[in-house]
Amino acid sequence: MSHQTKVTESLMKTYNRLPLTVEKGFGSYLYDTEGKKYLDFTSGIATCNLGHQPSFVKKAIEEQLNMLWHCSNLYNIPKQEELANLLTQNSCFDEAFFCNSGTEANEAAIKLVRKWSGKEAIVTFSNSFHGRTLGSLSATAQPKLQQGFGSMLEGFHYLPFNDYESLTMIEELKPAAVMFELVQGEGGVRPANKDWIDQLVATCKKHHILLVVDEVQTGIGRTGTLFAHEQYGFDPDIITLAKGLGSGFPIGAMLAKSEIATAFGPGTHGSTFGGNPLASAAGVATVIEVMDLLEKVKSVSETLMSELQPFTKYPAVHEVRGKGLLLGIEVDHAASFIKALREKGVLVLPAGPNVIRILPPLNVSCEEINEFIFVLKQVFELQGEDHK
Ligand SMILES: Cc1ncc(COP(=O)(O)O)c(C=O)c1O
Repeated sequence: MSHQTKVTESLMKTYNRLPLTVEKGFGSYLYDTEGKKYLDFTSGIATCNLGHQPSFVKKAIEEQLNMLWHCSNLYNIPKQEELANLLTQNSCFDEAFFCNSGTEANEAAIKLVRKWSGKEAIVTFSNSFHGRTLGSLSATAQPKLQQGFGSMLEGFHYLPFNDYESLTMIEELKPAAVMFELVQGEGGVRPANKDWIDQLVATCKKHHILLVVDEVQTGIGRTGTLFAHEQYGFDPDIITLAKGLGSGFPIGAMLAKSEIATAFGPGTHGSTFGGNPLASAAGVATVIEVMDLLEKVKSVSETLMSELQPFTKYPAVHEVRGKGLLLGIEVDHAASFIKALREKGVLVLPAGPNVIRILPPLNVSCEEINEFIFVLKQVFELQGEDHK
């Protein structure tokens, strides 16, 4: 048995892996083991937001690596404090809790809501994605993902997204919190409707219901502001972050207003690795770099959106939508387009069965956008007439 076969067989089959082994990456490009170059418009699923090996972040990680990799949360961790300061000084929040992933950040948020309110009811929305651990999976309103895992956590109520009747239900339920994404990423790149969010926020404020925004995918500049809620003009009580926070280095965070964060005292919640020096160094360098890029993200997003809109002329295309550099093209069968793009050296992602999800790095160049559109046109000229 070859080494490659053995490695494959000894992995649990939780992913349907594509026939591609990436060896290295620089900027917006990846290189496979055969030496083939790919334009990476997946950014490691919205994690490598500054491209691969961004020098400022790499230097910060290297410097920390040469001093101290890990330090338990029993002692002060200056880099973690620096990251907490950076995030709270640039948001409406007062305190940060660090963990290692988006699912853990959402677990922390669910626990904080329960501890602070003494209640269990939390409303989430259809097609949401909040993670895979049992708490965050219970929050994820997608029965197909929950199937086979027994009882979900009690207290979750699932209501339709972008639907005004959900607001009436929330008034009746009076949950402890409402938890939602402002652009549903995994659920199909679906931006929340601004007017619906205005009314949702008003309903929650009226009934003292906490607003918990899952910014795991939308946060850290992905939608053109440091956090997506800034564009919707409201201050959440809690947000969760992960993905782009460490430029691909694993780190998650929950940010909260101090009056709510006080419910977490010593010993109530924790994480061995959460916010360790290396992860925090990656986080600090990433946030500094991303804040400098936000204006550029807005203009690149406008350019890319205007280049994508004409694709609606193809019968296969239902809609082009998204925010910032979290964009989607809704088609009948996304997989065939994604495969054709990959064969031509361009990587994009699915979001559900019908959406081609486009996640370029935030520092993508005009030339790279042109290259992407050129290949996309070639693929749609061949396949775009087939559906609808
Ligand atoms: C909005 C959102 N929340 C939570 C998660 C879970 O994050 P992780 O995979 O880091 O646990 C994801 C991952 O795709 C996500 O998109």
